Amino acid sequence: MRENIFQESTGNSLFKNEDALSPDYFPEQVIGRESQISELAACLKPIEEGRKCAHAFIFGPPGTGKTTCCRKVIEELTEYTTKAKCIYANCWQHSSRQALLSLIAEKIEPTLPRRGIAGDEILQRVTEQLKRANKTLVIILDEADKLFFNNEQNVLYDLGRLKEVWGANSCVILVSNSPDLMTKLDSRIRSSLLGSQISFNAYSPIELKKIVSERAKTALRAGCYSDDVIALCAALGAKNGGDARVALKALFLAAKTAEKRGSDKITADDARKSFGESQSSAQMKAERDSQLLGEEDNLILDFLKAGVKTSGEIYEFVERKLGESDRNARKRLEKLIAKNLVQAEDGQKGSRVFSLKK
Ligand SMILES: Nc1ncnc2c1ncn2[C@@H]1O[C@H](COP(=O)(O)OP(=O)(O)OP(=O)(O)O)[C@@H](O)[C@H]1O
Ligand SMILES: [Mg+2]
Repeated sequence: MRENIFQESTGNSLFKNEDALSPDYFPEQVIGRESQISELAACLKPIEEGRKCAHAFIFGPPGTGKTTCCRKVIEELTEYTTKAKCIYANCWQHSSRQALLSLIAEKIEPTLPRRGIAGDEILQRVTEQLKRANKTLVIILDEADKLFFNNEQNVLYDLGRLKEVWGANSCVILVSNSPDLMTKLDSRIRSSLLGSQISFNAYSPIELKKIVSERAKTALRAGCYSDDVIALCAALGAKNGGDARVALKALFLAAKTAEKRGSDKITADDARKSFGESQSSAQMKAERDSQLLGEEDNLILDFLKAGVKTSGEIYEFVERKLGESDRNARKRLEKLIAKNLVQAEDGQKGSRVFSLKK
């Protein structure tokens, strides 16, 4: 099949489709996650017959395909049945009960006013709508541990018991890096969410090689890279806890390094050089998290990039840049600490100093 005319390479770029190596790219083919995908699909299968489905708890280290697999399953479910209303929520962005319920309202009952409406009323209105339309709510709560930072995990109880309380079917899919998230929930919430536990283990070097090699075929021109380059990128991912995101980013950086040299081939040396610029699994996660924060909080993070700061320095900066009071600055700092992006330590004479979390 001929490629889209806009995707054809221009000049001597090594890329055929650069987007395929961007962090948000959704691959056509998910490699080596068949068993996890079918476990999740089994939870959702009863929806078509109007039966109650099982909730799911998905866990595993960063870059192991959790979000990708959820998106894949949801895409196929939506093709298979009209009886599912699927909503994806990143709990970093929607980190409170009210924010999550507002998102659900927006997707199911867009006529509901955006503000000033109580959580229980939202639940009543959306469940009425779901029952009328004969649909099951499938809600993916990605990065679910972020609900714990603000003690907002009670919303899980509401969502897990939609059938018992409001008579509408729901399937809650919790996604987290932490395997013991469920044990952190109180027993009342935990029992409302009982279902399948689906583990995503770290990728082996061989699995990473397959993932990088398939992606290279989509992203790069044929013949501009060798197996050695693929193996080196996979090895970097393996060293970083079996993280496919790190391995794919390494390939992207290697291609950029070769391009800068004006070469039409990516060499093993390009790959090795690019490793110096590549980030660890934790750094990539922190960067993604900070991209989902507001502009104001990012300004504070940028300020802290320059080094350790005292609270006075931060308050002065926030006032100068944002015109906000010390109280607001303190609140912002507390939020960044709770989100694990900033750390506080004891400074001189009993004061506290702040820096970016390493
Ligand atoms: N099995 C796979 N096949 C193809 N690409 C994959 C696979 N697993 C991961 N990837 C790619 O790796 C990157 C990271 O995957 P994903 O976002 O799904 O990881 P995650 O487990 O959700 O990580 P995190 O816990 O950090 O959110 C994505 O770009 C995705 O396309
Ligand atoms: Mg994810």
